[in-house]
Amino acid sequence: MAFPLNRYRRLRLSESLRAMVRETTLDPADFIAPMFVVPGEGVRQPIPSMPGIDRVSPDLAAEDASELAARGVLSVILFGIPDHKDAVGSPSADLTGPVCRAVETIKAASPATVVMTDVCLCEYTDHGHCGVIVDQSVDNDATLPILAAEALAHARAGADVVAPSDMMDGRVRAIRDVLDASGYRNVPILSYAAKYASGFYGPFREAAESTPAFGDRRAYQMDPANVREAVKEILSDVEEGADMVMVKPALSYLDVVRAAKEVTNVPLATYNVSGEYAMVKAAAERGWIDGKRVTLEILTSMKRAGADLILTYHAKEAAEWLQGR
Ligand code: PBG
Repeated sequence: MAFPLNRYRRLRLSESLRAMVRETTLDPADFIAPMFVVPGEGVRQPIPSMPGIDRVSPDLAAEDASELAARGVLSVILFGIPDHKDAVGSPSADLTGPVCRAVETIKAASPATVVMTDVCLCEYTDHGHCGVIVDQSVDNDATLPILAAEALAHARAGADVVAPSDMMDGRVRAIRDVLDASGYRNVPILSYAAKYASGFYGPFREAAESTPAFGDRRAYQMDPANVREAVKEILSDVEEGADMVMVKPALSYLDVVRAAKEVTNVPLATYNVSGEYAMVKAAAERGWIDGKRVTLEILTSMKRAGADLILTYHAKEAAEWLQGR
């Protein structure tokens, strides 16, 4: 098998040869586009640290989802920014809140779009933590029924998939039970199963106004140093009824994506998070990297590592680049 008998460069000689032996391909249908929705009408507010991404009201969210669908991006995930917050995150289950409203407008304007909703309390609590606070820390079990009520509200509004991102233990089961008991047996759960306490969420927290008012999330999100623990999280979420699982962030966690792929057959997603997006945009803006080339290389690496789906702020531009090729 050695040189000069083997010359690997033979199969790299033309684009047609390279395309023929390519192991990993990207498709716009692999992407899930995150959207930030605010109350009101006709509202579009750019997010400074995430060029190209805006906070939008439900009417404009529907327009954006239709444009994404026209480019082959068939799925969006909604994050809500409510106009009021409280200690237990009650606006999270508001059927008239921005997420539920946007589910309705998007399904009406673009029925082919798979509308997912992020299920978490950090955008809805006045302290910014992902659950309710008892004795200065987030109480796991007291948070579960609130998350389940939020997921149920999203399902009632017509969400196609609910995606819990809070990292409470047992939330997948709690949500599954409530959905099943309320006639939503067919609404799948995409679990943020292995979600790390990461510095890469900075721009998101600015966009969603969800920075914790005290402390940090290390007592519920995972330690970036661990991979075996991620496998444990993934397996137990699948056992609790998760239809799909996620590893988040993506770029610094591709080994975790690979480990997850090896232990489960459910569809695997990874979240190319806000800080990963912001770094690429900032460097490209300065002319230090070729933004298009680096973005497609990053997205390809996520699929190569084993992701079936990628949540990414690059969804729209990447779909355009892929179609233009
Ligand atoms: C929590 C949530 C976060 C993100 C998605 N869901 C932030 C956090 O845990 O602080 C981050 C996404 C990103 O950075 O793009 N609801």
